[in-house]
Amino acid sequence: MNRIASDGLRIALTLVVAASLSALTLAAFAQSAAPATSPAAAGDATRGKALYQGCAACHAIDENDVGPRHRGVVGRRAGTLTDYNYSPALKASGLTWDAATLDRWLVNPSALVPGTKMFFRIDDPQSRADIIAYLKEQK
Ligand code: HEC
Repeated sequence: MNRIASDGLRIALTLVVAASLSALTLAAFAQSAAPATSPAAAGDATRGKALYQGCAACHAIDENDVGPRHRGVVGRRAGTLTDYNYSPALKASGLTWDAATLDRWLVNPSALVPGTKMFFRIDDPQSRADIIAYLKEQK
């Protein structure tokens, strides 16, 4: 390759690199400009399934354990499985499990239902949304 051609190539490469760098900068900017995720953010059920391993210390989808089984929990009135021994507090709570009540429950069960016997919290809003998305699929 003669010198002029190789200089030309070098300039062309430099331009390509510069162009892709500015594309990256733009992408990063677009991400930071996106609205912050709220607690009601859409959950990722696949991630929720993995996170459910934390719940599985006490719960299963189809069997009662330390905690009640979870199949059909979204849409169910709290404390109403007849074959699980709930705390009087949860039975009397009058709650129905939906995305909003489950989110508050997972923030701090004792704050939502003083006297409950579940002591387990999920601090990260996105993780709560992901777990709730997974529970919604366990119909
Ligand atoms: C250390 C044990 C433990 C862990 C871990 C745990 N729970 Fe519980 N959970 C319980 C107990 C015990 C109850 C019954 C509470 C009561 O009767 O007051 C319960 C009740 C519930 C209920 C009410 C169900 C109904 O039928 O009304 C929901 C919903 C629930 N848990 C969700 C979860 C989720 C989701 C996780 C994981 C993020 C989780 N729990 C982790 C022990 C646990």
